[in-house]
Amino acid sequence: MVDTNQLVNLAIQASQHAYVPYSKFPIGAALKTKDGRVFQGCNIENASFGLTNCGERTAIFKAVSEGYRDLKEIAIYGETKEPISPCGACRQVMVEFFQPEAKVTLIAKNGQTVVTTVGDLLPYSFTDLD
Ligand code: THU
Repeated sequence: MVDTNQLVNLAIQASQHAYVPYSKFPIGAALKTKDGRVFQGCNIENASFGLTNCGERTAIFKAVSEGYRDLKEIAIYGETKEPISPCGACRQVMVEFFQPEAKVTLIAKNGQTVVTTVGDLLPYSFTDLD
């Protein structure tokens, strides 16, 4: 089973595949499923800017599309001064497939990290239609 440190390194590695000709702002993510599978993702931009897919969501969608819906932990890297702050859309998508207690490690360009949880990133989230 990969540990947090390995997920951090895999997130940094994933950012190397980022397709960012417009923003030049590579993001990488790596997540672990309940049974220990790892999925990596990067941001993928488009000339039609709104079609961009964030790095975190790429990793999550890769896992879900392979049949893994129970996600346990994620690390997210951005070339930012402070550890990257995931966008609101990605927080909402995380809520769908992680428990609120799931560990999220945010990583800055210099390797500095902040550890938080999915629930702390999006409190009082919209989760169902009841
Ligand atoms: N981006 C992510 O991949 N994740 C985030 O949480 C924030 C933003 C990407 C989208 C776009 O490719 C670039 O960063 C600049 O917004």
